[in-house]
Amino acid sequence: MRSFDTLLTDLSGGVLLVTINREDKLNALNKTVLKELNEVLDEVYANPEVKGVIITGLGPKAFAAGADIAEFGGLDAKTGKALAQYGHDTFFRIERSPKPIIAAVNGFALGGGCELAMSCHIRVASENAKFGQPEVNLGIIPGYGGTQRLVQLIGKGKALELLMTADMIDAPTALSLGLATHVVPAAELISLARSIITKILSKAPVAIAGVIEAVNAHFTDGVDGFGAEADLFAACVVTEDFVEGVSAFLEKRKAAFKGK
Ligand code: COA
Repeated sequence: MRSFDTLLTDLSGGVLLVTINREDKLNALNKTVLKELNEVLDEVYANPEVKGVIITGLGPKAFAAGADIAEFGGLDAKTGKALAQYGHDTFFRIERSPKPIIAAVNGFALGGGCELAMSCHIRVASENAKFGQPEVNLGIIPGYGGTQRLVQLIGKGKALELLMTADMIDAPTALSLGLATHVVPAAELISLARSIITKILSKAPVAIAGVIEAVNAHFTDGVDGFGAEADLFAACVVTEDFVEGVSAFLEKRKAAFKGK
């Protein structure tokens, strides 16, 4: 994989670790970060050697402290909408990735950083992580999906409170709300994310992609989630991996899935 200006990448054991590399700006998401994230996503979608992804931020302080406020000057209605749309498109590609993507939230996940984490399939957090949508402090609303995914993850009442007060929540609170699924000391964060993703990668890849697509269907306007589930179930039962999974169970051995 080529090297990037704002991202570090490391592929090992099928897991691509993507680290946002703007520590001096608390890993704020500028245009280059979004563009390079899209280039990494091209690779995630196309490269069979990439089987799962972990996204984190460099340093002990921040996952990503938001969209880059330094790039906000001069926005008008047209460029503002285009900025939000680009963020939506990018984060939909994460959310709809057929390969699992985990956010390892190692510090501040604010604004666009919280929205990036929420677009990932699973969020694990270090003890010092802080989540929030502080956009109203700047006179804007979240533009990268925060008003939608925060409601999906923690419910309307709590989401509205966080969105309107701009309050930050700590990692234990994020855990209690279901925004994070685990909280661990910072030194254990990446190994925890790796162990979760390794477990997922031991399952049948077509089934994992099916789970992601079916769950996303629940949140997609005009799509019947139960109908999508039935279609995806049907797609799984004709795979070689289904035959292998059932045979392995009956033969009391570990299944060897091929992703077919
Ligand atoms: N965009 C651009 N730069 C950012 C940034 C952002 N979202 N968040 C932090 N930075 C920069 C700061 O400007 C500072 O740069 P400098 O050293 O060149 O002045 C550097 O990162 C360190 O941040 P600083 O504010 O000094 O750290 P802190 O520990 O005092 O405060 C935060 C940490 C997260 C509370 C604070 O940086 C903050 O409130 N950031 C903005 C959060 C936000 O509103 N995000 C939503 C954007 S839509």
